[in-house]
Amino acid sequence: MLHRPRRLRTSKSIRSLVSETNLNINDLIYPLFMVTGENVKEEIASLPGCYHYSVDRVGEELAELVELGIKAVLIFGIPESRDQIGSRAWAEDGIVQKAVREIKSSHPEIIIITDICLCAYTDHGHCGLIKEGRVDNDSTLELLTRIAISHARAGADILAPSDMMDGRIRAIRNGLEKEGFTEKAIMSYSAKYASGFYGPFRDAAHSAPGFGDRSGYQMDFANSREALKEVKLDIEEGADMVMVKPALSYLDIIRQVKDNTNVPVTAYSVSGEYSMIKNAARAGLCDEERIMIEVITSIKRAGADLIITYFAKDIARLILNGVL
Ligand code: PBG
Repeated sequence: MLHRPRRLRTSKSIRSLVSETNLNINDLIYPLFMVTGENVKEEIASLPGCYHYSVDRVGEELAELVELGIKAVLIFGIPESRDQIGSRAWAEDGIVQKAVREIKSSHPEIIIITDICLCAYTDHGHCGLIKEGRVDNDSTLELLTRIAISHARAGADILAPSDMMDGRIRAIRNGLEKEGFTEKAIMSYSAKYASGFYGPFRDAAHSAPGFGDRSGYQMDFANSREALKEVKLDIEEGADMVMVKPALSYLDIIRQVKDNTNVPVTAYSVSGEYSMIKNAARAGLCDEERIMIEVITSIKRAGADLIITYFAKDIARLILNGVL
């Protein structure tokens, strides 16, 4: 036979020689959940192996990340109180602002990305201001801009708006420029779908909507061309990077975004994707390591330049140990 594709599969070495997709520690982003109070390191029940940290304890986690070679974190805050407009989100002494200042001073080499949204800070749990029972787009933009500026002032390197309001990238970009933050990058959650896969995160961040759902602002998972429209708008409005979220059920979207843009494409492998694997493995239904490698590799193969994943440390460990 002239062609025998199996020739290139005969040993692990030859397979790795011709492997088209390689995971790289530089591309991994690890999400961190910061809480108020002192001396808190508590495992998040819905995200086994991930923890809530208070600012004074996060050093242990950062030391581990640095040792593993992970260079970027995505910070979420769980505030001490919530109100109608989410005012703790832009407070100078807010949880994210404090965490960012601490991480910047103790580990200046770590890239700090902050999630910009209102849902964990509002008493109704929606990602914007409520007017007449609906999430009001335009009045929300000013608040998102305030949050972004306060994160930038605290020292965040990359601002990541996850709210899905229209025009937010332009509003935030203009706000940053006006305040002199000309070098802060924006990583937009551009194609963020109204997904059932966020369930474990909403437990972790106590951010489930109090009424209704998010389908009035997050995307319909039946649509892919619309994702390209969202991505295009965000780039025009000043985003430096775009994101597709979730990842695993949206590999086709990642590929289309990759093929139609010239900015870095991030994929967010969300809480539900992680928890499903963890829990299936715990129930003895699958080999966790094997499935994790397969899933994260597929996200990279689909075209993701950067991957936000709760598995970041496990992947980094495998790379360091020469398994990957
Ligand atoms: C905030 C936000 C959410 C996630 C990231 N930022 C939740 C949501 O939109 O309800 C989900 C991340 C995950 O599930 O891992 N808007």
